[in-house]
Amino acid sequence: MAPASALIDQHGRRISYLRISVTDRCDLRCRYCMAEHMSFLPRDKVLTLEEIAAIADRFVARGVRKIRLTGGEPLVRRGIGELATRLGRHFGHGLDELTMTTNANRLSEHASTLAAAGIKRINVSLDSRDPETFRHITRHGDVSRVIDGIFAARDAGLAVKINMVALKGLNDREIAPMLLWCVDHGFDLTLIETMPLGAIDEDRAERFLPLTEAFEALRGRFDLIREIDRTTGGPARYWRVEGSQTRLGLISPLTANFCDGCNRVRLTTEGKLYMCLGHGDRVDLKEALRRGGLDAVDDAIDAAMAAKPARHDFQIVSGAAPAVERHMSVTGG
Ligand code: 5AD
Ligand code: SF4
Repeated sequence: MAPASALIDQHGRRISYLRISVTDRCDLRCRYCMAEHMSFLPRDKVLTLEEIAAIADRFVARGVRKIRLTGGEPLVRRGIGELATRLGRHFGHGLDELTMTTNANRLSEHASTLAAAGIKRINVSLDSRDPETFRHITRHGDVSRVIDGIFAARDAGLAVKINMVALKGLNDREIAPMLLWCVDHGFDLTLIETMPLGAIDEDRAERFLPLTEAFEALRGRFDLIREIDRTTGGPARYWRVEGSQTRLGLISPLTANFCDGCNRVRLTTEGKLYMCLGHGDRVDLKEALRRGGLDAVDDAIDAAMAAKPARHDFQIVSGAAPAVERHMSVTGG
């Protein structure tokens, strides 16, 4: 096999972070994310867990230091615990961090396995703590299960970051109470603007809440201190809530572009490597692996680096088609 060269994209950005969507399926149906009736990939189209691990190994050999397991909902994929354990073997051999984004619906059952695999932090999607609002947003979810999952994770020693998509008229009044709850329990909170990914049953523009507005409201109630040094790499900008352990993050793709510092690529469960959440450009690593093994995977990864777009061009315009047809559940958060 060719020597493992580091991953530098055509814009000179060093790629050190791989997100792996292990399934496009989910046990919830959040309105801003999915349509009520979705068609998912047939099982024979998806990478096996062995193939995912082999591709991840190659990325670590080429300088990826952080891996996030995501979905859809990663905990609905059978064998996810074994995959996490398998990837955890790279700790101390190139990998610094393994994380997961989950809806926590099944987290109670999995928390201790994830902690044992070496996961130290997880992101949990929680847009409302009110049972009725949560059920409405997710179309059928039970918030008490999710909250139990969050506390199971904390008890297993995992640091928890709550992801909350800001939705005008749905959860805007819950943002300040959510931050207070996070402060009380030592969780971080990241607010996210809705992104135009994939067809859903409603108009995203009607629910779009610019985080500039949400932030002004929070500033009136909390003492927020900007943490400049935490802006490197990730898409969020951070503030610390004075007098607490809690960090507030804002992911504002629409009102503050974060692409200059992009260090990420995303592997879908179908084996496609997407270079940007906001573009269709991709290379097919499943085809490469099955045809030519890891050498062919390396060549495909090189082609991906040469083609990574400079930035997304998201807009939220009423009635407009989504920026890309694929849903967040395909490429993962
Ligand atoms: N826009 C913004 N956030 C989204 N998520 C899912 N779909 C969208 C979308 N269209 C969120 C989930 C999860 C995170 C990974 O992405 O709620 O918290
Ligand atoms: Fe599932 Fe997450 Fe999409 Fe909600 S946002 S439907 S939990 S993948």
